[in-house]
Amino acid sequence: MRAFIAGWLLVLAASVVTLASHAEAVPFSMLPKPHPLVIWHGLGDSAHSEGMESFMSQLKEAFPGLYVHSVTQDATSDAEDRRHGFFGHVNDQVQQACDQLAQIDELQGGFDAIGFSQGGQFLRAYVQRCNTPKVRNLITFGSQHMGIADLPACGPTDLLCRVAEAALRGGIYTDYAQSHLVSAQYYRNPKDPKAFAAYLDKNDFIKDINNEGTTTNATYAKNLASLENFVMLMFDKDTTVEPKQSSWFASYSVRNQSEGEAGRDPNPNEPTPLRQSSIYLDDRIGLRKLDRRGALKMELCHGIHMQIDPACQLKVFGKYVGTPSTGLDNAVATWIDHAWRWMLYNTTGLHVEDTAGLILTQTVLFLALFSVIRVSLALIVHAVRFVGRKRADDDVQSGPGPIHLA
Ligand SMILES: *[C@@H]1O[C@H](CO)[C@@H](O)[C@H](O)[C@H]1NC(C)=O
Ligand SMILES: *[C@@H]1O[C@H](CO)[C@@H](O)[C@H](O)[C@H]1NC(C)=O
Ligand SMILES: *[C@@H]1O[C@H](CO)[C@@H](O)[C@H](O)[C@H]1NC(C)=O
Repeated sequence: MRAFIAGWLLVLAASVVTLASHAEAVPFSMLPKPHPLVIWHGLGDSAHSEGMESFMSQLKEAFPGLYVHSVTQDATSDAEDRRHGFFGHVNDQVQQACDQLAQIDELQGGFDAIGFSQGGQFLRAYVQRCNTPKVRNLITFGSQHMGIADLPACGPTDLLCRVAEAALRGGIYTDYAQSHLVSAQYYRNPKDPKAFAAYLDKNDFIKDINNEGTTTNATYAKNLASLENFVMLMFDKDTTVEPKQSSWFASYSVRNQSEGEAGRDPNPNEPTPLRQSSIYLDDRIGLRKLDRRGALKMELCHGIHMQIDPACQLKVFGKYVGTPSTGLDNAVATWIDHAWRWMLYNTTGLHVEDTAGLILTQTVLFLALFSVIRVSLALIVHAVRFVGRKRADDDVQSGPGPIHLA
């Protein structure tokens, strides 16, 4: 009988653990629906272009039951949406995305988010400024997190791009450009002291979300650090993004005009990596906090800008996107989850998504659950015995008293 109960408990614990943990261990049919997904397209693309539609239907095929929403600046016209990739005020566009996502029922329990190119820094702005509903994993492909130090070349037939380019020649830090030309709002060139001073004076998008101004917004760091994972992918042959390492938050170091030759950066053409940059060292936006729990991933994809080959896809899909939602998305569960991730990464250097990390997580979960069930069962048995004994005692006391015959 004891052996039977122990065996039964083992099975119970095992099934709860497998169901509550990650996808790899469980057959698909048993799983709850995958986390919903929001995507934000890149410059020159639109929410429902042929490419985006094909991408979304492939995802739905790969992950049955997946809900996908593509952020748009104009739900009635895809051509208008594409135009807004070049023209508009980014802060307004982010706010519009905030309003849009807040109204979608499917997203209210939280969602994963993929930003393509400039859509990546826009979704990051969503997380930092709004984040209602909450983003779980944020994935950015070839995004310009530290801005661009040069404007990307236009395709030979891309008229909109040429019009925007011509407008930019009129000045990047004019009030007009900073509120009407999208690329100007993440243009940041530390190599040119004059342009950089103008940037610090005029920019209200990339400077703001990177907390690079005179005031910093603590909410930004808090919200970004609340992500489960922030996955940044860089393309090794990216020539569109200058420097390409902006996708990993690297940037050229700021040139100081008053410093002579001696004070110059010995290697001004080598961007300073994130972990040596002040945005990280001062933890201005929560990146260091994410990194401490192994939640900041810098992945390299082989190819030119936005050439997402199968090896690159495998770094994201089925790992951070398309994983089942367990319904454990409340604050306490998130806190426990983050604490566990921090401990695991801090002591072993493993992420929960790694195979070894997953096995370790499941083992610990299993042992914890097994002990909890054992202890509660023991407590119940004790309680039953105690009550039984007490009742027996009570029975003795409350039994019929001596009978007095009158
Ligand atoms: C910080 O950002 C949040 C979200 O955008 C905003 O509500 C708040 O007013 C900002 N705080 C400051 C001090 O600017
Ligand atoms: C440039 O360098 C000088 C001397 O190192 C320093 O006093 C000054 O504050 C710097 N200026 C900027 C804009 O960083
Ligand atoms: C764990 O975290 C503490 C405090 O943040 C840090 O001092 C320590 O070096 C970390 N250990 C490892 C192995 O990363």
